[in-house]
Amino acid sequence: MNTKTIVMTLAVCCTAVSSFSYAQQRAAGPVVIQGAMPVEAERFAQRLDNPQEVEIGGWRFWRGTVDGYPVIVSETLKGMSNSSAATAIAATQFHPVAIINQGTAGGHDPALKVYDIVLGKYSVNLGAFKSPKKAVGEGSDSLQWKPMDLLASKGSAGEDKTPHTIRKFPADAQLLAVAESVKAGYKKGSVVEGVIGSADMWNSELDRISHFHHSYQTSVEEMETASAAQIAAAFDIPFIGIRILSNNITNQGKYDPQTGLACQDYVYQVVKAYIAKIQTH
Ligand code: 5AD
Repeated sequence: MNTKTIVMTLAVCCTAVSSFSYAQQRAAGPVVIQGAMPVEAERFAQRLDNPQEVEIGGWRFWRGTVDGYPVIVSETLKGMSNSSAATAIAATQFHPVAIINQGTAGGHDPALKVYDIVLGKYSVNLGAFKSPKKAVGEGSDSLQWKPMDLLASKGSAGEDKTPHTIRKFPADAQLLAVAESVKAGYKKGSVVEGVIGSADMWNSELDRISHFHHSYQTSVEEMETASAAQIAAAFDIPFIGIRILSNNITNQGKYDPQTGLACQDYVYQVVKAYIAKIQTH
C-alpha cells in the first residue's frame, strides 16, 4: 500500500466511524418531558429511576431512566419565553431523541371536558397578530386581528401582504401514533387529536375563545407548546404537545389542578411505549 492509499483508507475509515458514532449518539439521546409548573413536572421526575437534579440558568432538569432508557424531565416555567429557552437548553445540552411538552390547558371546544386529553396534531401561536389601522377614538377589536408569521424573515411584519394563514407547528408522526396507541388505558376522560393554541395570555372572553376555535380550530389554550414546538423544529427534534383540560369556560368546566398529575401519568405511558418502539429499531 503506498502512502496515498493509506491516507485515503484512513479518511474513509474515519468518516465511517464518525458518522456511525454520531448516529449512535442521536439514537441514544434522551426523551425530554417538559412541564411548566412544579405540579406539572415533579410527579414525572419522581417516577424516574436514579434521578439526578441539574440546574442550568433558572431551569431545573431531572436526569434519570425509564425502563433503562435515558429520560430528562424539564421544568420549563410558565410562558412562551421560558419554554423556548428551556427547549433550546435541552436541545444543546442533551441532544434529545424527542421532546414531549405536556401539562394543563383551558378548553376552546365545548365538546371537551375537564380531564379530557388533547394530543396536539399541531400547535399555533395565539399571541402573534397584526391589527388593522384605526384612528384615535376608533377603539380596538381583537377579533379583527390577523395572524402574523414570526418565521417570515423578510419584510416588515406590519406591512407584509402575505395571506393571513396561521403558522402550524406539526407533531412528529411517530410520536403522535405512539400517543394514540396508549389511549385505551386512560379512564379519566377521552383522548382526542386536536390543535393547541399558545400565548402569554389567559383568555376568559367567550367571543374571543369562539373566534380562535372557529378561525384556527383550537381545541385548547395554554402558554408553552407552540414556542417549544418552534424551537424543537429549528433543531430538527421530533416533538409533540399533550395537554389535559384543567378548565373549560365554554361549558362551565371548573378549574381542577389535579389534572396536571393525570396528564403526567398519561405521558408516562406514552414514554414507555415510545422507548419500547425506538429500542426495537
Ligand atoms: N389559559 C392559559 N393557560 C392555561 N393553563 C391552564 N389553563 C389555561 C388557560 N385557560 C396553563 C398554562 C400556564 C399555566 C397558567 O397553566 O400553560 O403554564
